[in-house]
Amino acid sequence: MTERGRRAPAARIVGTGHSVPDQIVTNRDLERIVDTSDDWITTRTGIKERRIIQQGQKTSDFCIAAARSALEMADVRAEELDAIILATISPDMRFPATAIIVQGALGAVNAAAWDISATCSGFMFSLYQGEAMIALGRARKVLVIGAEMLTLLTDWTDRGTCVLFGDGAGAAVLAAASDDRGILSTYIGTSGDQVDLLYCIGQGTQGSLNNGQPANGERYIRMNGNEVFRHAVRTMGRAAAEAVARSGLTADDIDWLVPHQANTRIIDATAERMNMPPERVYVNISRYGNTSSASIPIALDEARRTGVIKDGQVVLTVAFGGGFTWGSAVIRF
Ligand code: UT7
Repeated sequence: MTERGRRAPAARIVGTGHSVPDQIVTNRDLERIVDTSDDWITTRTGIKERRIIQQGQKTSDFCIAAARSALEMADVRAEELDAIILATISPDMRFPATAIIVQGALGAVNAAAWDISATCSGFMFSLYQGEAMIALGRARKVLVIGAEMLTLLTDWTDRGTCVLFGDGAGAAVLAAASDDRGILSTYIGTSGDQVDLLYCIGQGTQGSLNNGQPANGERYIRMNGNEVFRHAVRTMGRAAAEAVARSGLTADDIDWLVPHQANTRIIDATAERMNMPPERVYVNISRYGNTSSASIPIALDEARRTGVIKDGQVVLTVAFGGGFTWGSAVIRF
């Protein structure tokens, strides 16, 4: 389930990219749909607005755009990819995997492509797999993606969840490391004893059989926000500390914390646990909401392209999601 960290990295992030829908929905817009307020959403979550997918758009559209931008930054051709690993719980179709649709669009003819399901920690799981493949010598270049269109799984009458999510995709190209820059540790974990706190039955076999269609209430994300919050705070702090310990570094060596963007209060608690001052924590939740598995790669790409994370700096990433799932990594850029 977990992997020992190495001081000399096997794999490096050589390019990042992201793509989000154009349509912006503000807290004020939501005030017109449910009994909520800009003030409540801002103070309880840190979210001001989010991007929402429009009719005719698909998860793969955003993955392809994010992937092209990551490949361009990496100066890697699609044919050079050995694998495409896409974390999503909101795929284009039940099958084939959205990763395969992305493969076809990119012309990544030498890659094997598959999806993984790990909710908000999905990108950390795909990074873990991609890094392990390179470390084992099974691949030289891997495209990892986190993409989620959770607004399609959102009950727009449930104010406890509909104010939280936003849509988007983020990608990273991994290649063999040649110096001390790269992924210094990865760590993932799951616990399946509290599935009922955050889930979506959708068209899963647990759902009631209704001519193949989920019953209305089963289509949507269901969450006990309070309980999930408690678990998130505890687990993200623990997972962050674990990735640092496995990297062979100490918390003092970390330049940036780039956490999953679910709630500023969860982010603040994680930062406090790691002794990271606010000015070294990358937060963009106000503009995107919780984009689930896309949140960390979107944040990494923004922070790289705007020069916030500089070459040689060490970044700690950590995520937590339904399942529960969690994952963390220490990366020297
Ligand atoms: O991505 C990983 C998984 N997800 C998460 O990490 C999310 C974790 N949970 C959270 O971020 C927070 O629990 C929420 C933001 C979802 C909720 O914040 P909270 O501080 O835990 O609020 P609460 O659920 O305890 O609700 C407090 C009050 C309740 O009213 P009463 O019972 O005190 O009268 C809710 O009905 O706030 C009410 N409320 C709202 N009021 C206005 C809940 N949602 C809303 C809303 N607008 N949107």
